[in-house]
Amino acid sequence: MRTRDPHRLGEGVLNRMVRILAERDIDPAVSTEPAEEPAAAPAADSSSAGLPPRYRNATADHPQVIAWVREVVRHAVAPNTGARRQVATGPSLLMAGVVGAGKTHQAYGAIRALRQAGIGVRWRATTAADLYADLRPRPGADSERELAAVSRCPLLLLDDLGAAKPSEWVEEVTYRLINRRYNLMLPTLVTTNLAIKDLRACLGDRVTSRLAQMTTRVEFEPVDRRRLRPA
Ligand SMILES: Nc1ncnc2c1ncn2[C@@H]1O[C@H](COP(=O)(O)OP(=O)(O)O)[C@@H](O)[C@H]1O
Ligand SMILES: [Mg+2]
Repeated sequence: MRTRDPHRLGEGVLNRMVRILAERDIDPAVSTEPAEEPAAAPAADSSSAGLPPRYRNATADHPQVIAWVREVVRHAVAPNTGARRQVATGPSLLMAGVVGAGKTHQAYGAIRALRQAGIGVRWRATTAADLYADLRPRPGADSERELAAVSRCPLLLLDDLGAAKPSEWVEEVTYRLINRRYNLMLPTLVTTNLAIKDLRACLGDRVTSRLAQMTTRVEFEPVDRRRLRPA
């Protein structure tokens, strides 16, 4: 009779599942957590899956954002032969502009453009304020694990950096997150409505110095688009 090592069998099945999940853009580590709130209506097309309804049709048309998408696609790597290429290492952007300038729109547009380019995108999006709320130590929550997951996610949209009330804890958590992504060279889309000196005052030199090196700064026209059109 042929004997099978149950441990090895389990590993093979697990590896296959991980590969299948990766091919469908599902992070096995976070597959039970949607990237955003449950969608209110079906996505416009598959590139919009998981995006908040407001940004479902977002199109990245800023030249620097388009260039970033191209670079991330160029750096994409297939986890094994024959598999779809996935977001790997790559450059990051610091999108700076007034409230309503269109930063979040460009960021989601960039995620859609990566998908439309046919590469696998495991991504997470969070505002910095929501992230701090999720990472606050509290009974029953594994904040270290959550921080590790966000730090290692291939693509992160960190929205509205510097908008939360500054504190030593906020500075420390932001430093640990940015430092890990800096070391791993993982593409990160950061948006902020603060000038760099205010970001430094709020989050410290260790964060802003890394951001300065790892990101290209994208400036937005100082126009609040929310006041230009009805909701
Ligand atoms: N290029 C664009 N085309 C159409 N609508 C846009 C564009 N950029 C932004 N918007 C809309 O303008 C509003 C503000 O954009 P948003 O990205 O949320 O601003 P910010 O993140 O800079 O505060 C949103 O309703 C968004 O959908
Ligand atoms: Mg925004």
